[in-house]
Amino acid sequence: MNGSIAAALRGTGSSLPGRVVTNDWFTNYVETSDEWIRTRTGIRERRFVGPNETSGTLAIEASRQALAAAGMTPDELDMIVCATVTPDHMCPSTACVIQAGLGCRPIPAMDLSAACTGFLYALSVGDQFIRTRSAKNVLVVGADILSRTIDLTDRNTCILFGDGAGAVVLSATDTPDHGIRSVKLFADGAAGGVGADRLIHLPAKVTLQPPAAEKQRDHIWMNGREVFKFAVQRMIELTQDAMDECGRLGLEIKLLIPHQVNQRIIDAALERTGFPTDRVMVNLSNYGNTSGASVPIALDEAMRAGRATPGDTVLLVAFGGGLTWGSLLLTL
Ligand SMILES: CC(C)(COP(=O)(O)OP(=O)(O)OC[C@H]1O[C@@H](n2cnc3c(N)ncnc32)[C@H](O)[C@@H]1OP(=O)(O)O)[C@@H](O)C(=O)NCCC(=O)NCCS
Repeated sequence: MNGSIAAALRGTGSSLPGRVVTNDWFTNYVETSDEWIRTRTGIRERRFVGPNETSGTLAIEASRQALAAAGMTPDELDMIVCATVTPDHMCPSTACVIQAGLGCRPIPAMDLSAACTGFLYALSVGDQFIRTRSAKNVLVVGADILSRTIDLTDRNTCILFGDGAGAVVLSATDTPDHGIRSVKLFADGAAGGVGADRLIHLPAKVTLQPPAAEKQRDHIWMNGREVFKFAVQRMIELTQDAMDECGRLGLEIKLLIPHQVNQRIIDAALERTGFPTDRVMVNLSNYGNTSGASVPIALDEAMRAGRATPGDTVLLVAFGGGLTWGSLLLTL
């Protein structure tokens, strides 16, 4: 490969825990209803991990699937990047847990924290290592188990989240107009991350063990209404910007894969941008918001369902805690 190099999507995988938690289950803890959750969010159910599952166990399974889809073995990987805000431990990283689980060579492995935008940040890292020829094959994972962080007395937040993992293998390609075309990443810590006006907050914690009942302060907290406004605005901007960019490049966006949180956020952005509704991947009714896993799970399901095929251009859009947000254009 002597010409210019890009990072191409070579395989995808995902893993969801077996335990299905319906909307009705939350009525055991807070004043809510299946009807409220369905109509205000679009979520019907989500998956929660069992006692022996973690971000690491789900991530290993998703990674095995991605490697199988890529037709590769673990020893062909040159690097692992895992986006998570619910690591099994602070050290070793979840990426090292994945490396050990897969039985890789002593390749670099690291975690990255950018909440629900984390997978896009992690893809960007893989893309950079490949384009600078420091790596040929990079495993990029998004894995989160927010169920270990929810406060079952806070109806504003607890109903939104689910657990899961998604993974992709990125590989170097010199095929022109192929692979990751552009990445846009943003963060605004002043607006969302710190201080009394924080919008989404998750205290430092590890999730190998379920939270002790007395540790209420360890829970995730969110100002849902303000985050909703932020999410709609960012999704409109990111989608419109990508549509404009594709217009200039003569590209058509075959599929938009947004971060899966709330159907009303997606609908508002589609209405404002005019992006065709039949070209959007939505699976949030089954899984809720799986944070860093949301985009790679949706990407995997879209690929397996044949919603995007080789040559198609796909737009990934995400937003979340930090605050962070970003988009990525990829030609398959
Ligand atoms: C959280 C969210 C679903 C709330 O929906 P909403 O339509 O904005 O609802 P509001 O916050 O305006 O609350 C409306 C009312 O519903 C109530 N309510 C909130 N959660 C409820 C629930 N689970 N069941 C029943 N009622 C609920 C509120 O208490 C409020 O009651 P009040 O008017 O008596 O005060 C929505 O704001 C959201 O999706 N936010 C973004 C979440 C997100 O993106 N998070 C992660 C970022 S990646």
